[in-house]
Amino acid sequence: MLVDLGSGNAHNTSLIIDQLLATHERVTYVPVDISEDYLNKTAEGIKAIYGNKLDVKPIGEEYLTALKDISTYTDRKLIVWFGSIQNLPYETQVEYLTEIRNAMRDGDKLLVTLDITDTSQKQTIEFAYLDPEGYNEKFDLSSIRRLNTEMGGNIDLSNFEIKNELVVKSSESQCSYINVWMEATHDCVFDVKTLDLTVKLEKGDKLNLHEEGGISCKYTIEQVRHLFNRASLGIVDFWVNKHVAAVVVNRK
Ligand SMILES: C[S@@+](CC[C@H](N)C(=O)[O-])C[C@H]1O[C@@H](n2cnc3c(N)ncnc32)[C@H](O)[C@@H]1O
Repeated sequence: MLVDLGSGNAHNTSLIIDQLLATHERVTYVPVDISEDYLNKTAEGIKAIYGNKLDVKPIGEEYLTALKDISTYTDRKLIVWFGSIQNLPYETQVEYLTEIRNAMRDGDKLLVTLDITDTSQKQTIEFAYLDPEGYNEKFDLSSIRRLNTEMGGNIDLSNFEIKNELVVKSSESQCSYINVWMEATHDCVFDVKTLDLTVKLEKGDKLNLHEEGGISCKYTIEQVRHLFNRASLGIVDFWVNKHVAAVVVNRK
């Protein structure tokens, strides 16, 4: 059984599916994604490619809810978690890894990709997360647009400048991350009616666009090892290129 946490369009996972089908007679694919509409499209696409060679059982739930079901499956499992862990706060990463571990049985394996980009390239990394074409900005500001359109907000983006910073942590028990914030270019006030909230900002005040601990975490291999260790998971094998580590772990 192949469990795909946060499956998205499953393009990356299809490489694993091809390999598993070449070496196993029967494979069940369980894509998990909180975005149910998108998940159903992905599942249909996968069924169209693989037909009845693959049994597809999508779960349109949040990870933790899905993991409760997954823990009851007795088939031998490979769980993959691609391109997702680095956007969670550090302690949530530990919590989710622990829950994944608890859903695994002896012999099951977990394959995770993490970002290991060299943090000494501070400016290059910061630039990559605030590209001149504005793709990142569009993504970063989507929560503000939703506050305005869905919750009666009147946050005027022209009062702000968007900025970011790579925060480098060298301790084994932490990881580096990107902070992204909106900075008031002058004194301003905004309301969010549904939250009964009025916010007064002075020039230079910051509005963080993510939870404490930033997003897009970057790790050293020692930090990766420590993170998995905290969730009682041990590294079996790993591969690295310039930016990404793919790490296979099992229960300790
Ligand atoms: C960054 S994308 C990665 C997609 C894919 N795995 C890849 O490598 O291209 C993260 C995916 O996880 C899903 N996701 C995010 N948070 C989730 C959660 N708490 N529970 C379930 N799915 C989640 C998103 O809807 C999205 O499809």
